[in-house]
Amino acid sequence: MDKFVITGGKPLHGTVAISGAKNSALPAMAASLLTAERLALHNVAMVRDIITMGKLLAYMGASVTTSEFPAADYSFQAHTISDAVAPYELVKTMRASILTLGPALARTGVARVSLPGGCAIGARPVDLHLTALEKMGAEIATSHGYIEARAPKGGRLKGGHVVFEKITVTGTENILMAATLADGETILENSAREPEVTDLIVLLRKMGARISGDETSTLRVQGVAALHGAEHFVIPDRIEAGTFLVAGAITNGDLTLTNCEPRHLGAVISTLRDAGVSIEESAAGTLRVRGGGKLVAADVTTEEYPGFATDMQAQYMALATQAEGASTITETIFENRYLHASEMIRMGAHISIDGRHAIVRGPAQLSGTTVQASDLRASAGLVLAALVANGETTIERVYHIDRGYERIVEKLSAVGANIGRVHAPSS
Ligand code: UD1
Repeated sequence: MDKFVITGGKPLHGTVAISGAKNSALPAMAASLLTAERLALHNVAMVRDIITMGKLLAYMGASVTTSEFPAADYSFQAHTISDAVAPYELVKTMRASILTLGPALARTGVARVSLPGGCAIGARPVDLHLTALEKMGAEIATSHGYIEARAPKGGRLKGGHVVFEKITVTGTENILMAATLADGETILENSAREPEVTDLIVLLRKMGARISGDETSTLRVQGVAALHGAEHFVIPDRIEAGTFLVAGAITNGDLTLTNCEPRHLGAVISTLRDAGVSIEESAAGTLRVRGGGKLVAADVTTEEYPGFATDMQAQYMALATQAEGASTITETIFENRYLHASEMIRMGAHISIDGRHAIVRGPAQLSGTTVQASDLRASAGLVLAALVANGETTIERVYHIDRGYERIVEKLSAVGANIGRVHAPSS
């Protein structure tokens, strides 16, 4: 298993190009199951989860082609779906495999997806996806660790009125995709409004879907008999951009981020400004972050979009360790999403956890040691902490970060970080 070795203390200077959003590309790829025609996607990040989704689509019978490095251009064509099954071996490495359930069921009338099981950041069930599909007439059973879904007689889902009990991002995406091919109108209430959901709506519309309500929590979908091919440019990754904003601030550096969408980073930018970070939109799609000022404590609560993203919580915690005063972080989206805190404490951070709240007292001089990454965003938080720590930090289990950050070692090295990857054979 690969490790990162980071020697902290170097301010980062220069320009970083932000990649396409993994969380937008994944549902877009799953949408290729909705049509027999070709779907071309551009600005797709070369990260592990994208490779896993490609494997899953190929397993189901789609042809998947990609350009040589940088593999940002992909095309998918599912002439037929030979096997509407998402096997355990793939689902266990990526929960987002559940995104194939809605489209495969809508297209073929049957689908089997392995139950995702637990993961490091809490129970993360898929009950809301299943209840919504039942509202659309699907029969759902679980047996032998698999979800087995069947459309009503005739093989076509029916439009339905779905009110999500809780806001779910992939749940909204799954049901949106299923509804595009259903018979009649589907209304989705309490839907997620994340930019990745809106990007999916834009893509589905290009494929011939009839959807209204973009960026609101009520979406209406008029089902159509068939969808067609399309070409789409995936939106920039707001979480990668937010991570580099923190990297610039925490190292007292000066970074310019290109290819980003500042509009999607509103809550992150305003929280970082509250903490004393200087951020300006220097040109369209470009953000400049400058450190050097004093960082001060600022409280943050994770919320659904447009609130502060839970996927930025670990990175913000790293920043808070360097800010003067006590910052209270409240995690409202996932239980058990503070696994990175104990590793930061081992590096010298002053953090106490009380249920959903983490109180971070700073500034603390962090010192390098060996730490373990526990999930994708936790790993990013540890990389940021290592960038300001005294001496050398070894981060183990970086396969988590490879799931979602494109060429992070190369991108950080290019702006002056002392970071290297150590390849270690899997044990
Ligand atoms: C997506 C993102 C992930 C992000 C999360 C929250 C992708 C591929 N992943 O994950 O990076 O951290 O949104 O912004 O886009 N829940 C249920 N039942 C369900 C579904 C969800 O109880 O059927 C709960 C979850 O346990 C969690 C909350 O709802 O507490 C939100 O989860 P959800 O929005 O579904 O997260 P994902 O879509 O898995």
